[in-house]
Amino acid sequence: MTSIIAQIKDRFAQALTLAFGPDWASTDPLLAPTSNPKFGDYQANLAMGLARPLQRSPRAIAAELVNHLQLADLCDPPEIAGPGFINLRLSVAYLQSQIQRRQAHPRLGINCVSQPQRVIVDFSSPNIAKEMHVGHLRSTIIGDCLARVQEFLGHSVLRLNHVGDWGTQFGMLITHLQETCPQALEADSGMGIGDLVNFYKQAKQRFDQEPEFKQRSRQAVVDLQSGNPRATRAWQLLCKQSRQEFEQIYRRLDITLEERGESFYNAYLGAVVEDLAAQGLLQENEGARVVFTQGFTNKEGLPLPVIIQKSDGGYNYATTDLAALRYRISQDRGDRLLYVVDAGQSTHFAQVFQVAERAGWIPAGVTLTHVPFGVVQGEDGKKFKTRSGETVRLKDLLDEAVARARADLEQRLALEARQEPQELIESIAETVGLAAVKYADLSQNRTSNYLFSFDKMLALQGNTAPYMLYAYVRIQGISRKGNIDFDHLPPTATLQLQEEAEFTLARHLLQLEQVLEEVAIDLYPNQLCLYLFELSQKFNQFYDLCTVLQAPEPQRTSRLMLAHLTARTLKLGLNLLGIAVLERM
Ligand code: ARG
Repeated sequence: MTSIIAQIKDRFAQALTLAFGPDWASTDPLLAPTSNPKFGDYQANLAMGLARPLQRSPRAIAAELVNHLQLADLCDPPEIAGPGFINLRLSVAYLQSQIQRRQAHPRLGINCVSQPQRVIVDFSSPNIAKEMHVGHLRSTIIGDCLARVQEFLGHSVLRLNHVGDWGTQFGMLITHLQETCPQALEADSGMGIGDLVNFYKQAKQRFDQEPEFKQRSRQAVVDLQSGNPRATRAWQLLCKQSRQEFEQIYRRLDITLEERGESFYNAYLGAVVEDLAAQGLLQENEGARVVFTQGFTNKEGLPLPVIIQKSDGGYNYATTDLAALRYRISQDRGDRLLYVVDAGQSTHFAQVFQVAERAGWIPAGVTLTHVPFGVVQGEDGKKFKTRSGETVRLKDLLDEAVARARADLEQRLALEARQEPQELIESIAETVGLAAVKYADLSQNRTSNYLFSFDKMLALQGNTAPYMLYAYVRIQGISRKGNIDFDHLPPTATLQLQEEAEFTLARHLLQLEQVLEEVAIDLYPNQLCLYLFELSQKFNQFYDLCTVLQAPEPQRTSRLMLAHLTARTLKLGLNLLGIAVLERM
């Protein structure tokens, strides 16, 4: 990819070679967008750091570099400021030609990467028969966005749902199912178990209170693990029902995911133990087989082991993750493994990665990254709960966002005395409500805890989905009002930037590529949100200050082009966040 910054960096490498010799070519030009447009678009701050090694004043170094910088096709002549900053301003000719180039390109001028990677994104990953809670929702929304960005840039992405579908908790679930609802287990009875979350609670309660039930549950685990058909059927039924519930959420949120739960890796757990033993990494500890990791200690300051195999022969969450990691590298051919999982599991992943590293399972060039995120809090700053203190069900949460979006819309329609068909109202409310939930999550720095507020996420002003959607709708309104087919603006039309607001908007439009590159590398969706928010603001400023439909030609067409490119950029950017746009709202 060749974002503007990347191009300028190349030119600096050339100038460094010419000015100081090839040894200096890879010096980082310390290039950053300027904080104040007065200084141009970018500033290169390398001269100060070179003063000592080159034994010259920073200003002299800057002057020497500027002498050799070949930037005439991109920028106005560079200026040196202060102690030795090099200020760069994109030239009007370049801005205009670049906007036109993007305008003519189906991907807005963004090429696919030249070396695509196999990126595996582990996200969502709820647990069978337990509710999918707001933490899983965060993982789902963030993971989907990261997958979309990687896909757009041309990487080959495998989206994996590491569902919790195995483990000792299935003993009590199977036993409870067999005892309370045996009919459901008849072949093809098609019967449902009902509310699974309640079912889980009941099973857990019996497990904790009835010693005999506990005993039978233990046996059921053994049955399941040894492939007993009745136990297997019960397990399948539980998985199937959960899956249906998860799928409703995924469908509604437009999430594509491949389910590959923990049970899938059963067959590979034994080999994990064998290989760790062969590497001399396994140790006995209180009857269990463990690996002691370096740099992790418990509360008493003692080394913290990763339990690979428990004393009863059972395996652990970490063992499954080790097997999964090996499978993703050897069979799925992953180059980059991402795990979008809450920050509470940071130690787990750091340990798993360390064990895999020391066992020699990570080939050169393969990277493992835990992509952590903070917890969801209610407006009171406490853990997000319903008023009566229960965990919020995802379906209810989405329904409420949509209901509130509908109420807002109806209020606005009443104020404007506007009549719209009920169907349209419903579909706008659904889009706005879901967009608000997604955007509110993505626009936060994911590592901080996230305060869930319906009022904030649905506000028409501020860094919210409705604000962004509204900017898009505003542009569609221009085309409706002026009867303009944006896709067929005169092919000979040229861009003519005139007003400061137009320049500001044009410059911002050109930064999309840079932002997407950053998101792909750093994995912070809030950077894309911020970019789109500023784009909407800059568009609104432009539209408030510059006439469009009433402007004389060639300004009129030129401004229509800017508006259209803004709309397409918003649409693409929102789409990469997993958010659909609206033509009207
Ligand atoms: N099921 C787990 C949970 O709900 C998340 C799994 C994350 N992925 C993984 N490979 N461990 O906490």
